[in-house]
Amino acid sequence: MAPRFKTPAPLVADQPPVSPFLKWAGGKGQLLLQYAPFWPPREKLRRYVEPFVGGGAVFFHLRFPAARLADSNAELIGAYQAVRDQVEALIELLSVFRNDETAFYAERLLDPRQLDPLRAAARFIYLNRTCFNGLYRVNRDGQFNVPFGKYRNPTICDAAGLRACSAVLQGVELLTGDFETTTRGLGDGDFVYLDPPYVPLSATANFTDYVPQGFGEADQRRLADHFRRLDEAGCRLLLSNSHTPLARALYEGAGYPMRVIQARRAINRDGAGRGPVEELLIANYPLPKQP
Ligand SMILES: C[S@@+](CC[C@H](N)C(=O)[O-])C[C@H]1O[C@@H](n2cnc3c(N)ncnc32)[C@H](O)[C@@H]1O
Repeated sequence: MAPRFKTPAPLVADQPPVSPFLKWAGGKGQLLLQYAPFWPPREKLRRYVEPFVGGGAVFFHLRFPAARLADSNAELIGAYQAVRDQVEALIELLSVFRNDETAFYAERLLDPRQLDPLRAAARFIYLNRTCFNGLYRVNRDGQFNVPFGKYRNPTICDAAGLRACSAVLQGVELLTGDFETTTRGLGDGDFVYLDPPYVPLSATANFTDYVPQGFGEADQRRLADHFRRLDEAGCRLLLSNSHTPLARALYEGAGYPMRVIQARRAINRDGAGRGPVEELLIANYPLPKQP
């Protein structure tokens, strides 16, 4: 299928970027410069939509005033809601947490579903800041099981950073759910950036444990089908994935523009693969040539 839109000019944020309030596996913070030439032109875009928002590095960087952010991780979206709607109360709660191994494991034992939403959000941010590598991983029962990070002095309560994120989140729609549900009804004027859990580079190096059920090949195929539906609905789309034969094969046949960029993996379960790896970008609008 031929690309539907004309060559883009680089998208430039009107406002200075803000740092995300979470560390997140697969976070795009370190890749923003490399991604810069590939955003679509901002004019004619009404709304930014990110159905796999994670730590939101791209959202906080681009700063669209109208946005929908979503993720299947309910606790994560609960944390965004607390930052958006109750930032001062959240700061007050977070400021009493300590970077202490015993306190960490006591907190980890709590069931967030039994806590008041604001308290659950504080727990989520505390564990994210103090656990190993800022990972989010749960066991089959949905219990968070990442060990203590042993950092000397992690920032648990960055009050200024939380307030800045809260300001950017005002008016932003937040949804919990699978990407197919949270992107229903989108069309012309919507720019959708899709950053799913990646197709694994190898059987042991996968990183699909963000949710208990993982994100396997069937989900990657479901996503590729959905990409086509969103394209037909008139959305502008940019998707990132690992540069693997499966990821290429899922989008290549339709003739979507693709580019390969060099990335550095910050988080990898087995500690291997921290060197450069290739990422694949797929769009439904023309992408500039790489130097
Ligand atoms: C690669 S991470 C996104 C990273 C994000 N771009 C950032 O900069 O932090 C993928 C996200 O997809 C979410 N996820 C996994 N399966 C999902 C699904 N079926 N629908 C929506 N989100 C899902 C995970 O919870 C995770 O936050």
